[in-house]
Amino acid sequence: MTREEALDSVSANVESENLIKHMLATEAIMRALAKRLGEDEEEWGLTGLLHDIDVELTEEDMKSHSKLGADLARELGASEAMAHAILCHNETHGIPRETKLDKALFCADPLTGLITAAALVRPDKKLANLEAKSVEKRFKEKSFAAGADREQISQCSEIGLELDEFIELGLEAMKGIAEDLGL
Ligand SMILES: [Fe+2]
Repeated sequence: MTREEALDSVSANVESENLIKHMLATEAIMRALAKRLGEDEEEWGLTGLLHDIDVELTEEDMKSHSKLGADLARELGASEAMAHAILCHNETHGIPRETKLDKALFCADPLTGLITAAALVRPDKKLANLEAKSVEKRFKEKSFAAGADREQISQCSEIGLELDEFIELGLEAMKGIAEDLGL
């Protein structure tokens, strides 16, 4: 599967611009994580890009969300490792996260929301001048972007990253595609 094929499939299955941006942001963070950890950047990136492809198709029914997504990814030619990461990123299924790829997707997913929210409360609403320190401060404010599960983000420890390093890596990755994110 090429990135173009993955992106075409995302566009065909997802209407919400914000959801597409979320998947692009997750892709960017996953690529940066793979680079940092010496893993396959393309495999990790495409896993991030595809991970929520079924959200609209499943109408956010958590019992089928990510099962359909994993199937769609397989149809596109994703490896079993990629499909597994997509499947188990939804905790509803109770499928244990086993590989580094599984664990990376799980913690990268909510970080995008925290960083996006931290950018949007700035006067310029941009990522460019947002500092990792500010995002770390926001992380500690429980009511800020409450949907960005702090416990889940903290699971970066499972792939050997300290929280501050993870936030910095995620922020830099998202800054790299700021234009695509409209931030
Ligand atoms: Fe997601």
